[in-house]
Amino acid sequence: MSILKVENLSKKIGKKEILRDVNFEVNAGDILAFIGPNGAGKTTTIKCILGLQKLTSGKITINGYDIKKDFVKAILKVGSIVEAPEAYMYLSGYDNLLLDKNYYKNIKEEEIMRVVKLVGLENRIYDKVSKYSLGMRQRLGIARSLLNNPNLLILDEPTNGLDPEGIKDLRELMIKLAHDGIGIVISSHNLSELENFCNKVCIISQGRVLSLKSIDDLKKIDQAKYLVRVDDVKKIKKYLTKEDKIVNDTLIEVIKDEQEIASFIKELAVTDALIYEVKREDLTLEEAFINIAGGKKID
Ligand SMILES: Nc1ncnc2c1ncn2[C@@H]1O[C@H](COP(=O)(O)OP(=O)(O)OP(=O)(O)O)[C@@H](O)[C@H]1O
Ligand SMILES: [Mg+2]
Repeated sequence: MSILKVENLSKKIGKKEILRDVNFEVNAGDILAFIGPNGAGKTTTIKCILGLQKLTSGKITINGYDIKKDFVKAILKVGSIVEAPEAYMYLSGYDNLLLDKNYYKNIKEEEIMRVVKLVGLENRIYDKVSKYSLGMRQRLGIARSLLNNPNLLILDEPTNGLDPEGIKDLRELMIKLAHDGIGIVISSHNLSELENFCNKVCIISQGRVLSLKSIDDLKKIDQAKYLVRVDDVKKIKKYLTKEDKIVNDTLIEVIKDEQEIASFIKELAVTDALIYEVKREDLTLEEAFINIAGGKKID
């Protein structure tokens, strides 16, 4: 079942084009990793979905409701954290949740402890938020976003400030929620943090979607890394492009698909270089990403 559909979303601020033709869909049980470098447009996309910024053009549908026509119905079952979650520092985590509870109809006080336990804050929930670490504040933010029992959860960079243990807990929580049928969007600039949580990856750069794939397809990408060992790299230098990496005097590393590596080997074969070995290695998800993003490093 489709929970969130973003169709041809474009956003201009002044003359600046921030987003162009962004498309993706989240179904019940999906965890979509929304990945891109700083300034790619992740937060802007999320703000458009949440009605915090106007769309210049395009359509966003949540639980069947077009946010332009039925915003209140569309947003009813959405939980979110955008950028750094703000909480009242001089109140306890519990009291912050109590205030949130009052925004919604029909939420019982027991619900507070349910979400507190989900995020593992039960030992510190009566402490003032000013005494929390950044990771604890992130957990409180997630608890607050879950209070209204959302079926769409949107978390903008929730791994910021989490230690490895915190990331592991977040992963387990997200998998549990997705298993219960919630659709989740998690943004990050670090794919390796999310690659074992998510089933879909949407890669965005400079406001455009570069790739939208299931995690299995991204892993199956037909490009691979080839290590080519020759007697002397100098003899083949003119066949190398600037993306190719010279590891040492006898070894190069190239990323190519099967057709490209076949032609490359043919080219090398007519030089006077001796080719001792061509070894294929699958790309890591991070390398596949960098390659799709045009060789751009994400951090
Ligand atoms: N109010 C604004 N006016 C002008 N430009 C803006 C405004 N808000 C965002 N931008 C620009 O839009 C682009 C996308 O910003 P956005 O915050 O969506 O990126 P992001 O992917 O969330 O980045 P980060 O990883 O740093 O959080 C950036 O180039 C940013 O400078
Ligand atoms: Mg952002």
